[in-house]
Amino acid sequence: MNTRVNFARYLLITCVIMTGVQTLNILGVFPYEGKSHFFVFHSYLQELAKRGHNVTVISHFPQKNPSPNYHDISLAGTSRVFEDMIPFERSYFVILKIGFFIVDIGTENCRKLLGHPEVQQLWKTKAKFDVVVVEQFNSDCGLGLAHQLGAPVVGINSHVLMPFHYSRFGIPYNPSFVPFQFFNGGTKPTLYERIESNIFHAYFKIIFKYWSQNVNQRTLAQYFDDVPPLDELAKDIKIMLLYHNFILYGSTILSSNVKEVGGYHVAAPKELPADIKKFIEESEHGVIYISFGSMLKASTTPRDKVEAIISAVSELPQRVIWKWDEKTLPGIPKNILVSKWLPQNDILAHPKVLAFFSHCGLLGTTEAIYHGVPVVGMPVFGDQPGNAAAIEESGLGVRILIEDLTKENLLEKIKTVLDPNFRNKVKQLSKAWHDRPMSAMDSAIYWTEFAAKYRNLTFRSPSADVPLYQYMYIDVILVLGSILITMFFVARTLLKLILYLTRLLSKDNKNKLKSN
Ligand SMILES: *[C@@H]1O[C@H](CO)[C@@H](O)[C@H](O)[C@H]1NC(C)=O
Ligand SMILES: *[C@@H]1O[C@H](CO)[C@@H](O)[C@H](O)[C@H]1NC(C)=O
Repeated sequence: MNTRVNFARYLLITCVIMTGVQTLNILGVFPYEGKSHFFVFHSYLQELAKRGHNVTVISHFPQKNPSPNYHDISLAGTSRVFEDMIPFERSYFVILKIGFFIVDIGTENCRKLLGHPEVQQLWKTKAKFDVVVVEQFNSDCGLGLAHQLGAPVVGINSHVLMPFHYSRFGIPYNPSFVPFQFFNGGTKPTLYERIESNIFHAYFKIIFKYWSQNVNQRTLAQYFDDVPPLDELAKDIKIMLLYHNFILYGSTILSSNVKEVGGYHVAAPKELPADIKKFIEESEHGVIYISFGSMLKASTTPRDKVEAIISAVSELPQRVIWKWDEKTLPGIPKNILVSKWLPQNDILAHPKVLAFFSHCGLLGTTEAIYHGVPVVGMPVFGDQPGNAAAIEESGLGVRILIEDLTKENLLEKIKTVLDPNFRNKVKQLSKAWHDRPMSAMDSAIYWTEFAAKYRNLTFRSPSADVPLYQYMYIDVILVLGSILITMFFVARTLLKLILYLTRLLSKDNKNKLKSN
């Protein structure tokens, strides 16, 4: 009896050990200095460490309070973290410039990454990693490093896919329904918008392939022998953790190794600072929260737009909390609280916060759907137009374009989202957002461990490897077309022959008749 119980216990323990997740050595490569990007990754990296994995992170943002299992290789101070670079106006020229700028930074990041002594130690000491997590943004340099370390790669991003990322994962880019983040068209672009997005999609792909990839390849070759083409390494990414979710962005066509894990950065809300809490809770009609993120500066925002916002919200019974980097706003009414820094997630979590007037950054948009707060979206640059289109299409909010921003238009938009029916729909949407078989964070961690566990298997979509002429069935069309054309000519020739013969025969007969 006793031995049987012991045996059962032994079996149980063995099973737990065998199915238990083995701790992994994980390297994160984040040479891009965008703070809002790393803010998302940080929560994932910390969670990996918390679950027992040994995590080493190369980034510009070392932890202030080091936690166990999380080791920093700090690139801080090697680049200036850029601010105040975003013009309020959006034009083709600005988009071209942003493309240039992003790619240029990517090549510089590569040189700094590989030139860093602590990073060099990794390959000089032949450090062993079970998986390397590489940001998918403006450079593929990290893929070369991962290849040198001989580890499988998990791709990760904190925004929508860049135009040059579709082909590596074999995801079709079809501008008739795939939103282009820099423009407003969403999933139903007009002909004009489709022409625009085709041209700019091509522009981004070309500068990435012929500039970024080329320069990075040469930088890598200075340190390593035989680095395969970065394009090929990109296709070898085992799993891509896409910061996306179909409840907000709509159903999209993705390859099976591209996993939607959007939403994991949102933390459980914390207690609000006393003054903000008081301001919110003493409001009779609720609160509207306004923030245009950290990139947009007061000094670059036209005064007439600021005044339109102030005069619109001063007509509302609601109180307003506004994140703004100037202490004073002109003629600020009593119902507005202005502050340079605000705990956005904790504010949006408060049930008395009824609407969010936002520039549609991905972080704020995600927090809004998480807490079920309707959005009035005014996109400015980057992926914000795409996010704003998704906000409107999903029903999370409405959109207002900068050029249309007047007191009357803004008031109308805010009143639309304050409507109880609108709010109810947003609550439903938020409920669906949370209703998943596995939380976004669990899912991100699961697929990371999966990539390490099955490092010898390939999950890439065959469409990533198909040459363009096959993908567009040009060869098939050529073969079938040639057969059809050949058949046509054969038939025509036969027909002609038959006609000729019948004529000949009838002539013959006539001649015979005559001679008779
Ligand atoms: C964990 O990572 C650190 C830093 O990369 C490394 O020095 C250490 O040896 C690793 N620990 C284990 C158990 O592999
Ligand atoms: C993966 O492949 C390598 C080299 O071919 C081999 O040494 C290793 O045992 C394989 N790993 C697993 C988990 O099958």
